[in-house]
Amino acid sequence: MKKTNSFFKKIISRRNTAKILSDMAARLNIRILVTDAGDNIIADIGQDGEFEKSGNSGNSMVSYPINAGGDDQIGFIKGSEGCALVASVIDCIAEIESDKRDLTSELLSKYREINLFYDFAENINIRTDFNEMAKLTSMQISELLNADSILIILKNENTGLLEVVFAFGEGAEKYTPLKPEDAVIPERVILSGRAEIVNDLSADVELAGILPKKTGSVLCTPLRIQNRVTGAIYLINENPIAYTSENLKLLMVFSSQIAAFIENGRLLQNLQETFISTVYTLAETIEMRDSYTGDHTRRVMNYSLAIGRNLGISGDELETLKLSSILHDIGKIGISDSVLLKPGKLKDDEFEIIKSHTILGEKILKNIKQLNHIIPGVKYHHERYDGKGYPEGLGGEDINLMARIIAVADSFDAMTTDRPYRKGLSCDAAFSELKKCSSTQFDPAIVDAFIEAFPDIKEK
Ligand SMILES: [Fe+2]
Repeated sequence: MKKTNSFFKKIISRRNTAKILSDMAARLNIRILVTDAGDNIIADIGQDGEFEKSGNSGNSMVSYPINAGGDDQIGFIKGSEGCALVASVIDCIAEIESDKRDLTSELLSKYREINLFYDFAENINIRTDFNEMAKLTSMQISELLNADSILIILKNENTGLLEVVFAFGEGAEKYTPLKPEDAVIPERVILSGRAEIVNDLSADVELAGILPKKTGSVLCTPLRIQNRVTGAIYLINENPIAYTSENLKLLMVFSSQIAAFIENGRLLQNLQETFISTVYTLAETIEMRDSYTGDHTRRVMNYSLAIGRNLGISGDELETLKLSSILHDIGKIGISDSVLLKPGKLKDDEFEIIKSHTILGEKILKNIKQLNHIIPGVKYHHERYDGKGYPEGLGGEDINLMARIIAVADSFDAMTTDRPYRKGLSCDAAFSELKKCSSTQFDPAIVDAFIEAFPDIKEK
């Protein structure tokens, strides 16, 4: 760190230094003049007239430079010959103070790094979205390390090509997609599993063969997921700068955080997929007992999701709609075959038993904590907009939105599906039926959303 005049002035003005100077001046019986590098007097200590400033005779003034262990002079101790000892003591004090200052500044910088890491670790734990995590991480990296672009790169397991899954920084756009010449260093890092610093790209033997005029400095660290290197963090500075091994270590810490996040996300996705497929199998088992010709569950789910998207539902809410629609009839598990599969008209008491599948569904789902949130959609999918449905006779928007959507999707599929005892309606005839029952059986807004979204469903 550069030492300045103000730094020297500060040392000389300290009470301890001032005392040392005045004690030495008294003991040696000399006058001491302290100046900064620009020859401005900082202190004038001791007896008057002890030396002649002109230096012509007697105790002429001698000047001793102070450089505090560095190359630059930060001041002078001036006086008679006896001042050599004073100068040596002051030089020692200045050097100690200078080391202290460097150490303090290094400590402050480490403290800042630790603080940033702490914030980073705390924030990353409460975030589940990859892009949000990647943005936060890149912001932290760019605050600590100079970077024009930060890229998170993953190797596509099927094609073997490197893909930029996240790019940060003003110059990052040109690296998406990653050109073969820009992939040279990340490829090398992924292959070897070793992080790299290249402070002058034009001197990189491999890269120079492809892009001889490419300049700049880069840091690249491997992303290890499940003990395999599956990607890299690539930090690019378009102008050559001197990255250090400390900088590389810092980037490696971020890499391990990102890798852990990606791995957790992958595990969570696997878990969710297994969960959905288990739920799906369960729904299909129920469907097999019923008199539908098959694929009812999938169609009700597709219709429900199309309505949901048309109404602007997304994210977790759409996921709830998906599960609710798949499991809307789960309560039928508890209805005996003699009632559930009875051909022809049901007696009143038998119809009451069928109606109980809504309450039975609630009972089953109450025992599965992960599915508690879909209970309203399942329990109320036979409520009517005019309040004449079951199990509670709720009306209008008092009926859960998921349930109102499933009611339309389920009824449409029931109307358009062939049964052993009757042929299914055409889509247009079923639309007319839905419209006819708008505001009585169904929420009119949902009927409209379904009819509007239907062409998209058919195209799929
Ligand atoms: Fe039902």
